[in-house]
Amino acid sequence: MKILVTGGTGYIGSHTVVELQQEGYEVIILDNLSNSVIEVTDNIEKISGIKPEFHKIDLCDEAVVNEFFKDRNDITAVIHFAAFKAVGESVNDPLLYYRNNVTGMINLLNALEANAINKFVYSSSCTVYGEADSLPVTENSPVKKAESPYGFTKQIGEQILTDLSKISGMKTIVLRYFNPTGAHDSSLIGELPIGIPNNLVPYITQTAIGQREILTVNGNDYDTPDGTNIRDYIHVVDLAKAHVIALKRMLDGKDENPLEIFNLGTGNGNSVLEVINAFEFVSGMKLNFRIGPRREGDVVSIYSDTKKANEILGWKAERDLNDMMLTSWNWQKRIGKK
Ligand code: NAD
Ligand code: UFG
Repeated sequence: MKILVTGGTGYIGSHTVVELQQEGYEVIILDNLSNSVIEVTDNIEKISGIKPEFHKIDLCDEAVVNEFFKDRNDITAVIHFAAFKAVGESVNDPLLYYRNNVTGMINLLNALEANAINKFVYSSSCTVYGEADSLPVTENSPVKKAESPYGFTKQIGEQILTDLSKISGMKTIVLRYFNPTGAHDSSLIGELPIGIPNNLVPYITQTAIGQREILTVNGNDYDTPDGTNIRDYIHVVDLAKAHVIALKRMLDGKDENPLEIFNLGTGNGNSVLEVINAFEFVSGMKLNFRIGPRREGDVVSIYSDTKKANEILGWKAERDLNDMMLTSWNWQKRIGKK
C-alpha cells in the first residue's frame, strides 16, 4: 500500500513521512525542493531505517505530473502538503501563490482522477477562520474573507475539494492546522526557514543561537491578559500522527462523508510572552527581546475546539508547549546558524 506525499521533504511533510513509515506504510515523496533539501530523505532514513522513494517534480508542470502517474497503479492515497506558505510573500507576489498552490493542486487532482486515485488528505489552515467571532473555533465557525492571497489559496483548495466531492468518487479529509511548531525528538528533521523567519518560534531559536540580534514582539496592547496575541501552538509530531489517523480512517472506510474537516490544535491558547517564557524555561537562557508595534494582518486570538478531532477522528495532541520549545531548540542547536 503506497502513499504519495507531496511536499514530503518539507517541514510537516517530513515528519508525516516518518510516522507513516513507522506505521508500516510505503511512502513515495513528490517535491520540487523549492523550500526543502534532498538531504531530508537521508535523515528520514536515519530515523525510520527506510529511504523513501523520491521524485523531484514540480506540480505546476502538468505534463511531468501526468507522466509520473502514467502506468502507476500502486498509489492508494495522497497526502497533499506541497504549497508555498509565506503570508507576506503572497501579498507581494499573489500570482506566484495562485499559480503554485492552486494550479499545482488542480494538476494533481486531474492526474488523480485520470488514474482513479480517490483518497486525499489536504493541508489547510486555521487562517480560513480569520478573526473569529467566538472562541474556541469549531469546524462550523464561519470561514472569513481571506486576509492574504496565501490564505485565499487555502480556501480555494477547500472549495475545489468540496465541489469535487459532490460529483466524483473523491474522498477527502481536510485538516486545518493551528500553529505547527517543534521538531522530531531525534533533531534530524525540523523546520528550515529560508531567509528571515516570519514565524515566532524559529525567530526565537535563531535569536537564542545568535543568528538574529533581537526578537521583536509584535505589539503588547491587544485585548488579551498580557496584551500579546494568542495562538494554539501544536507539536509537529502530533500533527504528523493526525495525518496517519486520517488516512487510516479513509482506508478503513470509516469516513462518514465524502469530505470531512478537522481542526488540529491542542485547544490551548498561549500568548507570545508565554511562548517566550516557555523557551526561556526549557533552554535556561534569557532571550533578547523587545516590544514593538503591531504586525499588520495579525488576528488578536485564535485557538481550536478539538472536540471533533478528539471524538470523531480519535486523535488528541499529547505534547505541550515546553516540549515544543525544547525540540525546536534542540533542532536549532543541531543545525546551528543555518
Ligand atoms: P514547507 O515549505 O516546509 O513544505 C512544503 C513543501 O512543498 C516543500 O518541501 C516545497 O519544496 C514543496 N513544494 C512547494 N511547491 C511545490 C510544487 N509546486 N511542486 C512540488 N513541491 C512543492 O511547508 P510546511 O510548513 O511543511 O507546510 C506544509 C503544508 O501545510 C502547506 O500546504 C502549508 O500551506 C500548510 N500549512 C502550514 C502551516 C505552517 O505554519 N507551517 C500552517 C497551516 C497550514
Ligand atoms: N510574532 C512576534 N514576533 C515575531 C514573529 C511573530 O511577535 O518575530 C507573533 C505574531 O505577531 C503572532 C504570533 O507571534 O502574534 C504568531 O506568529 P506566527 O507568524 O508564528 O504565526 P501566525 O499565527 O501569524 O501564522 C501562522 C502561519 C500561517 C498560517 C497561520 C494560521 O505562519 O501560514 O499560522 O495557520 F496561515
